[in-house]
Amino acid sequence: MKILLINGPNLQLLGVREPGIYGAETLPGIVGRLRNVAAELGIELVDRQSNHEGDMVDWIGSARAEGFDGIVINPAAYTHTSVALRDALAAVRLPAVEVHLSNVQAREEFRHRSLTAPMCVGVIAGFGSGSYEWALRALVGHLRGPAAVSGAKKED
Ligand code: DQA
Repeated sequence: MKILLINGPNLQLLGVREPGIYGAETLPGIVGRLRNVAAELGIELVDRQSNHEGDMVDWIGSARAEGFDGIVINPAAYTHTSVALRDALAAVRLPAVEVHLSNVQAREEFRHRSLTAPMCVGVIAGFGSGSYEWALRALVGHLRGPAAVSGAKKED
């Protein structure tokens, strides 16, 4: 099983960016820990980050042809604005889980609306860097069946 992790704009600044909201961990640190979870689950994880909406649209659009089974995505600010990302998720029809470090529903009103979430299996938000781990486990559970999430590895 091969999962694509996409991180959107400004997430390369994690660690220095508003640590009171997003925590002190860097993106490479988060991805490194997620790789351990991927190894535990017996899946392949490919991670990409861009500040450019078009890059993210391209990655989503080619995900099926690249052999990905699902997508974990933090669209960051584009969550709230991007019809293009929403359409890309709808077009590719791969299961996706939207993730946010912060609880966007508890923040400014403009963050309450997600254009991308309706195209996803579900959303995990508010658990800091832990949101990524839950999102990955949730997606793998969705693809394999929930019993697999608790730890038992299954050959693909
Ligand atoms: C974010 C929440 C977004 O509203 C914000 O624009 C981000 C990060 C999060 O992970 O909490 O850049 O996606």
